[in-house]
Amino acid sequence: MKTVKPLLISFEGIDGSGKSTQCKMLYHELLDRGYGVHLYREPGGTTISEKIRDILLDRENDKMSPITEMLLYFSSRNQLITEKVLPALNRGEIVLLDRFVDSTIAYQGYGRDLSLESIRKVAEVAIGDLSPDLTILVDTPLDTAENRMDNRELDRLEAENADFKQRTREGYLQLVNDEPDRFLLLDGRETIEELKRLVIERVDRILEPSA
Ligand SMILES: Nc1ncnc2c1ncn2[C@@H]1O[C@H](COP(=O)(O)OP(=O)(O)OP(=O)(O)O)[C@@H](O)[C@H]1O
Ligand SMILES: [Mg+2]
Repeated sequence: MKTVKPLLISFEGIDGSGKSTQCKMLYHELLDRGYGVHLYREPGGTTISEKIRDILLDRENDKMSPITEMLLYFSSRNQLITEKVLPALNRGEIVLLDRFVDSTIAYQGYGRDLSLESIRKVAEVAIGDLSPDLTILVDTPLDTAENRMDNRELDRLEAENADFKQRTREGYLQLVNDEPDRFLLLDGRETIEELKRLVIERVDRILEPSA
């Protein structure tokens, strides 16, 4: 198995933007190349975190307060990094995350209007200074993303109104603006194959800088 410097890559974007498609393709590409690589979805990725996911996404939980929601996301996330992500990084492996902290800033911060300062305080407790080496934002207009979710039963957050989703999308773009070096911003309207090419091109610049 090839080892590299530990590498943490997160994928972000609104529901239906095309994140999971891209992170699965990168996962298989790196696996084929012989890297030690792991892919986890958020919320989830451990037994406990998947139970928290069920609470978060259950449409019956329509009374959940924004702060409860934010704290549950960070509970799930802390369990995931403690149990899976940090041990893998310590072994020099690659970890791909289908959503991470930026989701909470975009959805609960910009979408629900919680103060970014309160989210960052909780983040400090829950994940310390862990930050992705690279974050891939698949930026897709709402109508395109919604068409891609046709026929799917929507979870509690997917069923939110268009204003919430628009604020979330704009929140993500603000994050790219704040930290341009950490992000690869992709136009989610491109084809799956073109997006894959752009993702691999960027990841290769980290894995094989001299190539
Ligand atoms: N670039 C693309 N062009 C056209 N269709 C796409 C593209 N990317 C993904 N899709 C299709 O759109 C649907 C949603 O994609 P995907 O599951 O990757 O989105 P997601 O961002 O992970 O959504 P969610 O947040 O709900 O998990 C899938 O059917 C997928 O095949
Ligand atoms: Mg997905």
